[in-house]
Amino acid sequence: MKKNVLVIGSGGREHAIVYQLNRSKYVEHIYCAPGNAGIAQLAECEDIADTDVEQLLTFAETHKIDLCVIGPEAALAAGVADAFREAGIPVFGHSKAATQIEASKEFAKEIMAKYNIPTAAYRSFADYDEAMQYVRSRNSYPAVLKYDGLAAGKGVVIAKDEQEASDTLRDMLVGEAFGKGKVVIEDFLQGPEFSFMAFVHHNQVYPMPLSQDHKRAYDGDEGPNTGGMGAYTPLPFISAEEEQWALEHILKPVAEAMVKEGKPLTGVLYGGLMKTADGIKVIEFNARFGDPETEVVLPLMETDAYTVFHAIATGETLEAVHWRKQATVGVVMASCGYPGAYAKGAEITGVEDFDGLVLHMGTKRKEGKLLTNGGRVLMCIAHGEDIKQAQRNVYDEIKKINCTNLFYRKDIAHWAL
Ligand code: AMP
Ligand code: GLY
Repeated sequence: MKKNVLVIGSGGREHAIVYQLNRSKYVEHIYCAPGNAGIAQLAECEDIADTDVEQLLTFAETHKIDLCVIGPEAALAAGVADAFREAGIPVFGHSKAATQIEASKEFAKEIMAKYNIPTAAYRSFADYDEAMQYVRSRNSYPAVLKYDGLAAGKGVVIAKDEQEASDTLRDMLVGEAFGKGKVVIEDFLQGPEFSFMAFVHHNQVYPMPLSQDHKRAYDGDEGPNTGGMGAYTPLPFISAEEEQWALEHILKPVAEAMVKEGKPLTGVLYGGLMKTADGIKVIEFNARFGDPETEVVLPLMETDAYTVFHAIATGETLEAVHWRKQATVGVVMASCGYPGAYAKGAEITGVEDFDGLVLHMGTKRKEGKLLTNGGRVLMCIAHGEDIKQAQRNVYDEIKKINCTNLFYRKDIAHWAL
């Protein structure tokens, strides 16, 4: 019997999930809450907020949902997965308790210390004076200061001197800029960063291809931090041995640790890793698919998506998850002004002429027109025999998309070339 699936979220990541589920031979109908204009071409979108646990559950029960796939961290933190699991609906997404691996920097650090997982040395503080005493005693800059909680991507400050460290700590601990919470102070690491995601059900870990995000808004990794302006896979600077090492020494031990701690994982474990002169180390964990990495990684999955998501949700054993080995580059088109203030509602044309895959991150349709509806708007994805060719393809094709209020980086994947 064909299955009904509910996907929760509204970005490019969720479009990638819906795109793959739509190709599954088991899937009859896809609903998405709340979705976007691109997702609406493949799924029936429902205007329910991704954190509205009660409405989502009621919807799932009345529409006989066989599987729910959760994209955003906010939905996990709101306890959507817990509610679905309690109601007996298979759900791909961690419990609120397991989401702590992302939501609390201190929790993640404690797990890494306890289970010997390589990361920067750290201490955490609730008191400003004690934190400053520690910073002064170390006298080593830059100092990495991380607010222990969700801070919309603004909770990490790399302070260049004592003054900046003091200002930041005062803001976070005295001013409570992100609310009441501790600050983790850790060693500054150096090296290329990359993303290693895996599907995890308790002790079972199925790795995805490695990818790399581009955090800064402008070419040459200049300008303000963003949610990510592009991504690509594979990564020429990480060898197969290093990848295997990171799987065995980082992702698998974390999955096992979370089981031992009574907070087993049921979804994606995302390792934000750095290749330092001293080996691969963890910068952060996320409890969800990375965005925009997922948009270049997930389309390469050859194993049926319903089979994979359902197995992770329920704990059935998968033989393996197979991936197409194809160089892929994805470029984000963002609204002018992003990540600062930007206008919405500009018309976009030419998307259907793009030879490749266009996933929508923030769009809506009005009177038949496709309009911008967010900071990051579209992710344009192309493949190639190697990264260079994939990059050439994506930049040739992206010219076909017209909009007066969009910009994009011209150097995505430069790290690989
Ligand atoms: P996070 O939110 O923990 O990923 O931190 C945001 C960014 O800060 C990371 O992507 C890194 O570029 C940088 N960062 C975090 N921790 C460190 C560290 N220990 N050393 C150097 N850079 C770091
Ligand atoms: N691309 C980084 C993230 O999803 O957190």
